[in-house]
Amino acid sequence: MNIVNVDYDGLIPNNVDLARDARVKKALEKWHPGYIDWWHDMGPEGFQQALVYLRTAVSVDPKGWAKFDYVRMPEYKWGILLAPQVEARQIPFGAHKGEPAWQDVPGEHRAMLRRLIVIQGDTEPASVEQQRHLGKTAPSLYDLRNLFQVNVEEGRHLWAMVYLLQKYFGADGREEAEALLERRSGDPDTPRMLGAFNEQTPDWLSFFMFTFFTDRDGKMQLEALAQSGFDPLSRTCRFMLTEEAHHMFVGETGIGRIVEKTCAAMKAAGIEDANDIEAVRKLGVIDLPTIQKKANLHFSLTLDLFGSEISTNAANAFHAGLKGRFREDKLEDDHALESETYPVLRLVEGAIAKQEVPALSGLNMRLRDDYVAECSAGVGRWNRAIDKLGIRFEITLPHVAFHRHIGEFANIKADPAGNLSSDAEWQKRRDEFLPSDSDRAFIEGLMQPEFEPGKFASWIAAPKVGIDNKPGDFEYVKIAD
Ligand SMILES: [Fe+2]
Ligand SMILES: [Fe+2]
Repeated sequence: MNIVNVDYDGLIPNNVDLARDARVKKALEKWHPGYIDWWHDMGPEGFQQALVYLRTAVSVDPKGWAKFDYVRMPEYKWGILLAPQVEARQIPFGAHKGEPAWQDVPGEHRAMLRRLIVIQGDTEPASVEQQRHLGKTAPSLYDLRNLFQVNVEEGRHLWAMVYLLQKYFGADGREEAEALLERRSGDPDTPRMLGAFNEQTPDWLSFFMFTFFTDRDGKMQLEALAQSGFDPLSRTCRFMLTEEAHHMFVGETGIGRIVEKTCAAMKAAGIEDANDIEAVRKLGVIDLPTIQKKANLHFSLTLDLFGSEISTNAANAFHAGLKGRFREDKLEDDHALESETYPVLRLVEGAIAKQEVPALSGLNMRLRDDYVAECSAGVGRWNRAIDKLGIRFEITLPHVAFHRHIGEFANIKADPAGNLSSDAEWQKRRDEFLPSDSDRAFIEGLMQPEFEPGKFASWIAAPKVGIDNKPGDFEYVKIAD
């Protein structure tokens, strides 16, 4: 069969020759109804019958892999798609560097590998659950469609991980696949595995921040797993990254369009002071200081997803050849890191200081540094737009010690500039740093749906171009009544 094109004949579209793999096919077909139930229960609320202009992967050819059409979301073709196999691929790093990439699970690393797959898998349905109420308040049909595109693709990412579990991990893989449908974001008894995936996404500003900051953590994790010596994981993640790019596009352009609308409205009203929150809010747009606070929140929550700065788990996963560094194949060093060091920000005698640690232990920090560099670039683009619109304000990323719950800075309080303060002082100033109740109430008040084709809510600008080059008034979602 042709790896580039996808077999759409069976219940589960795939390019892994599922038709000839009776055991896995059966396991997946058994898992399928539970998935559909989950989608109905926890997927986008109120829009299951809507016709949505979605892209579906029909190939894994980077030059053209998607087809656009109107689809009812429960009928979306969630497929299993692996990027083409690289011939004679070798394990690119760690103790097994240079050995042929594993086509089967390496027995000695089985538990660690399963855990990595389950953790990645758990984030995918979690974000669908977090975003399920947003449809009702979409600022346009264009944005509504983008939300649903992200949602169905996160659903497909769950399929991608479940395939690996069922194909390569037998009975315990099947158990993990079931458990992925049982946990629920924010549920006190059966929460999702990682903190940020149990937080709420109550409004569209949060959604765009989430896709900018938290989906980008997903991207970094996928990049690290795409380097894996376990070839099926590498190939799976490589294709997921193709889809992931759109999620971050939604976030970055979403915030960009909000910022643009705010600045344009301020200009038109002759408001120069971006901190004159009351005056700006009267214009029906979101003031820049509130956008900053949301960024502070989502950035800090997402940093926690990288885990502790100093981590034995990260060292072990690298040493074992399971999880590499960002763009490992482009890095020029020995790819073993046994004698290297890496600078890590730590709490040293009550102060934040840089310390060299063994490079293997500092791998989470390293991935996080690569992540922060990407975030800064995106924030820089927002700032250039603000500047161009003639407003004096700069959005900044808060210090990495700010508002942390995991790692070196979990037990201290720092302000967004990185100054340490007492708990009491921090609590007193909390509403300066993070969205307050009144900020949330203001944003909630703005979240009125705009479902007329080509129209946008007051607080967000129209995009520069349509999806699939469609014109501005294209009906991206046909809402069933
Ligand atoms: Fe994903
Ligand atoms: Fe994503």
